[in-house]
Amino acid sequence: MIRHKDHFHGSDLEKIEKMYSIKKEEIVSFSANVNPLGISPKLEQDLSSHIHAIESYPDREYTQLKASIAAYAKADPSQIIVGNGSTELISLFIQITSPKRALILGPTYSEYEREISLFGGRTSYFPLNDKNYFQLDINELISRLNDTLDLLVLCNPNNPTSTAITSSDMRKILDACKIHDIYVMVDETYVEFAPEMDKITSVPLTEDYNNLIILRGTSKFYAAPGLRLGYAITDNEYLLKEIHQKKNPWMISSLAEEAGKIMFSDTEYIQATRELISTERERLYQIFRESGKFTPFYPSANFMLLRIEDKKEDSHSLFERCIKEKMMIRDCRTFPFLSDRYIRICFMKPEDNDRLVKVLLGKH
Ligand SMILES: Cc1ncc(COP(=O)(O)O)c(C=O)c1O
Repeated sequence: MIRHKDHFHGSDLEKIEKMYSIKKEEIVSFSANVNPLGISPKLEQDLSSHIHAIESYPDREYTQLKASIAAYAKADPSQIIVGNGSTELISLFIQITSPKRALILGPTYSEYEREISLFGGRTSYFPLNDKNYFQLDINELISRLNDTLDLLVLCNPNNPTSTAITSSDMRKILDACKIHDIYVMVDETYVEFAPEMDKITSVPLTEDYNNLIILRGTSKFYAAPGLRLGYAITDNEYLLKEIHQKKNPWMISSLAEEAGKIMFSDTEYIQATRELISTERERLYQIFRESGKFTPFYPSANFMLLRIEDKKEDSHSLFERCIKEKMMIRDCRTFPFLSDRYIRICFMKPEDNDRLVKVLLGKH
């Protein structure tokens, strides 16, 4: 049974459909954090001509796919591991390193803690603070690191705060972790949306730090969560060897392999996405900042965290108001360190964003 106060994941459109009697095709999801442009036009045009690829097993080494990813992510093909979405790679990495004690920056994506506990580890959180605009205090974090920890998890930019750590700060964190023999897992699912991606990505740091693994996917930026194509980047030979030994022989399908070879080279689409998100991010940030009804936290990704200032409203009342208008926002009550005073929205097409603004600001 679905109760009214149930929490909905960004992909739970079937549940919503039943409960509110709205066709899921009509719902605009401001909760899934997926690129509003949909899949790459080049992919749409070319993939069907590769349909016969499914008549053969994929290349076990995924050589061509890894070469495409490496060129795109500015890494070396030997550093790449492909997997069934970044979720499978999070799981494999945790399974192989089986951390006993992990530290996670929170609030964040819940899957890290779940995987760590599935493999018998304990998690503690380093809280990002509303008073500090959810920005990380690097020195404070470094002072919390010690020899009893074996894993630090950072989502960069972070879901749901949309805050980011620069690569120069990441270097300081990695140096401290190296001293205490701590692995650092950086989830870069949203990094391609960041305004200055080169200042945020940790990929160049893999050359200097072998305690680092980076996870990326195609679900959000490439609007392809159903494709299940993710990849990890590391220069740690032990991890590369172990993951190769423990993984399934074919972690992704021939079709996902073909899709990956096409989509990373659609530069026009990549550019169009970055421009759209940049413009809408700045525009919506200013609108909410001036609204008096919300406090927006400055976003680095394709979504934004908002604190509700209107005492008559909470995250659930706003969720209900929006869903009745066929727009789904993220009620942030279930995130650790957040409450019913917070919602998260992602940036969609300008006309949809305008509609959402009207409903949230009570002007419809
Ligand atoms: C931070 C973060 N990492 C990973 C994922 C899952 O990605 P994938 O579809 O590549 O498994 C999500 C999905 O919401 C996410 O928000």
